[in-house]
Amino acid sequence: MSEAEQKVALVTGASRGIGRAIALRLAKDGAKVVLVARNEEKLAAVAKEITDAGGSALVKPCDMSDAAAVKDLVKGTAKELGRLDVLVNNAGITRDNLVMRMKDQEWDDVLNVNLKAVFVACREATRPMLRARRGRIVNITSIVGLIGNAGQVNYASAKAAIVGLTKSLAKELGSRGVTVNAVAPGYIETDMTSELGEDIKKSLLDRVPLGCLGQSDDIAATVSFLASDEARYITGEVIRVDGGLAM
Ligand SMILES: NC(=O)c1ccc[n+]([C@@H]2O[C@H](COP(=O)([O-])OP(=O)(O)OC[C@H]3O[C@@H](n4cnc5c(N)ncnc54)[C@H](O)[C@@H]3O)[C@@H](O)[C@H]2O)c1
Repeated sequence: MSEAEQKVALVTGASRGIGRAIALRLAKDGAKVVLVARNEEKLAAVAKEITDAGGSALVKPCDMSDAAAVKDLVKGTAKELGRLDVLVNNAGITRDNLVMRMKDQEWDDVLNVNLKAVFVACREATRPMLRARRGRIVNITSIVGLIGNAGQVNYASAKAAIVGLTKSLAKELGSRGVTVNAVAPGYIETDMTSELGEDIKKSLLDRVPLGCLGQSDDIAATVSFLASDEARYITGEVIRVDGGLAM
């Protein structure tokens, strides 16, 4: 594939966990992957993994809680590389607390990274995608946004809002060949879930029909499909990848 034909995919939260797996997978699929997170060193390690395997990657450190920085990141990347084919909004944080104890800061931190950054990145990706009359946006939500979770009103609100954002944007951009979909992971084995106690993990597993935790690669495979040409007739969809937990 010539450089000019190579698709550009921007993945946020690509330094570890699900985002790292998505980045590796999209690179394997042939895209030039723009890796975004705060820690440049960790991103460089992921970029090395990609280039060692024959793929191509670019490191772009950015704090997704800073809306102006997110705007510059997406706009700047599309300008620098001349295109933006795929945007994967994956970066996310949790600040769990029962609602009566939840501080404004815990609400704001989660909403800024998990929702506002998604809005800003989508807005800035829209122009280059509309100009190209094609594009793929994949937003990582959570089953918690669909069914709720005690102790996570901030996180669940942001993730539920992503579903509304995804469907609304899919309606806005559909006629111009841009698809917008969401993936809702269940409990996936990553650093984010490693903090859960063994008893909580066991009670969760009891509710998962497939009887095991998911892996980051399970999410990456779904994102890869949604980002591919084969998914051309799917938009505004939310795909649960949760072992059946939220059905
Ligand atoms: N792990 C799960 O079980 C699970 C379940 C449902 C949804 N999700 C969602 O999947 C996504 C990835 O989760 P994960 O488990 O890989 O989490 P993780 O904590 O392992 O990784 C999160 C990534 O986001 C990045 N990030 C966080 N704050 C950032 C900021 N301010 N600026 C830039 N980057 C930032 C981190 O550096 C990291 O690369 C999140 O949106 C999460 O809500 C995860």
